[in-house]
Amino acid sequence: MAGGEVELIELVKRFDDVVAVDDITLRIAPGEFFSLLGPSGCGKTTTLRLIAGFEQPTSGRILLDGRDMVETPPNRRNVNTVFQNYALFPFMTVAENVAFGLRYKDVSRAEVKARVAEALALVRLEGKQDRRPSQLSGGQQQRVALARALVLNPSVLLLDEPLGALDAKLRKALQIELKALQERVGITFVYVTHDQEEALTMSDRLAVMADGRIQQIGTPRDVYEEPATVWVADFLGTSNVIEGRVETGTSVRVGDFVLAVPAIPSGISGDVLKLVIRPERVGLVEHGTTGDNLVPGMIERVVYQGPTTRIMVHLACGQDVQALLPSLDAGAELRQGTPVCVELPSSALRVLPAGPRGFRDRAGVPAPA
Ligand SMILES: Nc1ncnc2c1ncn2[C@@H]1O[C@H](COP(=O)(O)OP(=O)(O)OP(=O)(O)O)[C@@H](O)[C@H]1O
Ligand SMILES: [Mg+2]
Repeated sequence: MAGGEVELIELVKRFDDVVAVDDITLRIAPGEFFSLLGPSGCGKTTTLRLIAGFEQPTSGRILLDGRDMVETPPNRRNVNTVFQNYALFPFMTVAENVAFGLRYKDVSRAEVKARVAEALALVRLEGKQDRRPSQLSGGQQQRVALARALVLNPSVLLLDEPLGALDAKLRKALQIELKALQERVGITFVYVTHDQEEALTMSDRLAVMADGRIQQIGTPRDVYEEPATVWVADFLGTSNVIEGRVETGTSVRVGDFVLAVPAIPSGISGDVLKLVIRPERVGLVEHGTTGDNLVPGMIERVVYQGPTTRIMVHLACGQDVQALLPSLDAGAELRQGTPVCVELPSSALRVLPAGPRGFRDRAGVPAPA
């Protein structure tokens, strides 16, 4: 499948006094699995509806394969949408549901049959074509909805929380299936979800959104390992956020302790900043150990979570951090009230500005480090 490039340029959508999409610029490459990730109400669905043509932008442009789409009605855009409530026709068979979109196209009966069979094979529903939706499981119904969209050979498929109605286990299985399917067909997927694990699992790249704006764009590894703001770090899983002050170009003072950090970015204004570190990067060593980036503290809580154990430590500098250890490494000596030294390795510390939510200004997305 050729094509499938999506470009949004300074896209804005206002509903009365709500700015649902606030100046979004991004480019999605042909064949890319791209996710829009963000909390409820941040403008994900609105962005998707703008791409599909169900909404008109207040300002800005939408290009599909380089062509401006603003004047093009939804049915003339080579784009198809799969919604969360996949709304199959209950009185039609699976095959009839899948064939529905071809009804208004100039396609012979033989071709309809062949394309329906092909789409059902893609979603692994061969043999189920004569059933009614009520005779299928939730996951199978979701796959019918996908087949119904794929049968039209769109170059871009828009998916709005398509797995939202499914239970956690089925969701996980379908995440892997959907990603494999996308790789096989090579169609561009624009995938909306508020589930960070889902976005990290499936995407080639993702945009993290809040309040109608893009906070960061990157690969799952980029945004997880190198969050651009405290807010992104926090949204993408638990993070420790430690307040500090600039000491030198490569060190930060936290209370009585000085921590070595990777270079302090030039964007930090003033001398107050935040250090962000993932719990899985925090080490625990014996109390009294000396060396770089060690801060003494006291274990406040130990939470066993099956494969991992979460250990909350109150540091001598007054702040709290969490460490996440494989349960096999979290021995019985780690219990509430035990003094320890917390190791905050320099390479794992991310230095970020200390804004209220750590948002960057409108200048946009900084180049990756
Ligand atoms: N037709 C509309 N009229 C007025 N306001 C709207 C309309 N559609 C969306 N909004 C508002 O725009 C903002 C973004 O909504 P949107 O549906 O895009 O969010 P979302 O990120 O998809 O959220 P969710 O995860 O809950 O689906 C919200 O504040 C919402 O109330
Ligand atoms: Mg939505």
